Amino acid sequence: MEISPQPDQKFGVVVEGFDANTASDDDIATLKNTVYTNKIAVLKNQDLDPHGFLALGRRMGRVEPYYEPVYHHPEVKEVFVSSNVSSEGGAQIGVPKTGRFWHSDYQFMPQAFDLTLIYPQVVPTQNRGTYFINMVEAYDRLSEDLKTAVKGTSAVQSVRRYFKIRPSDVYRPIKEILEEIEAKTPAVVRPTLYTHRFSGETVLYISEAGTESIQDENGRANPELLRELLEATGQLDMTFSNDLIQLQTFEKGDMLIWDNMSLIHRALHTATPEPAVSYRVTVWDD
Ligand SMILES: [Fe+2]
Repeated sequence: MEISPQPDQKFGVVVEGFDANTASDDDIATLKNTVYTNKIAVLKNQDLDPHGFLALGRRMGRVEPYYEPVYHHPEVKEVFVSSNVSSEGGAQIGVPKTGRFWHSDYQFMPQAFDLTLIYPQVVPTQNRGTYFINMVEAYDRLSEDLKTAVKGTSAVQSVRRYFKIRPSDVYRPIKEILEEIEAKTPAVVRPTLYTHRFSGETVLYISEAGTESIQDENGRANPELLRELLEATGQLDMTFSNDLIQLQTFEKGDMLIWDNMSLIHRALHTATPEPAVSYRVTVWDD
């Protein structure tokens, strides 16, 4: 296994020679350490079926199938499918245009995932990739005033604004759907800053899609502070040229593993009707 910095990127490493079928426990431990240190690892030349992909996920941690079954792979439910391709019978497998907003995976749940593994299956030739922001770096770069302002606050995380209407929701009253979202995934309140449990770094844990508000010790919302933090961390930059933003592209055979507790991400989808399919496995590292 050979690990080197990604060329022409701000962070992340390229891993050559990793074979999921023969990797030792030491290799897995090294890989995880690398991800917590460098935030993204791109594993080259992977060749796994959905079962093999799941098996690798299980070696990285406790795998969780996505709470909404509409995203499940038909044979391996732990594999989340992002796809704009229909099967021959015209049935949609997985969900198209997923994650086109700043978030971290399961940020709206009581415990967000430690690691996300993405394994692109059908890779479009153009305009496809994922934007990332390292929220450790973003916190470091805040002005002293903002660092002081954010101290002691809590962030309210919710899926409410970005929940994707499912095919089965058509003709349902929106009120009923909203009530269902509230019952299944009530908003969670967490400290806005936390110490990463593996790297020890301070992370500013907010995202444009996931964070509904920031509140002080008395539960008073501060919309201006949230706006300033989103602005300072590059999340309101729709040209994606902010210095904190990294566009990660990939080719067939690549597998991306990232530190989901440090990074927020946002999918870039092709505007042209090119097919795109990607598999994902998410884990808690406990
Ligand atoms: Fe995501």
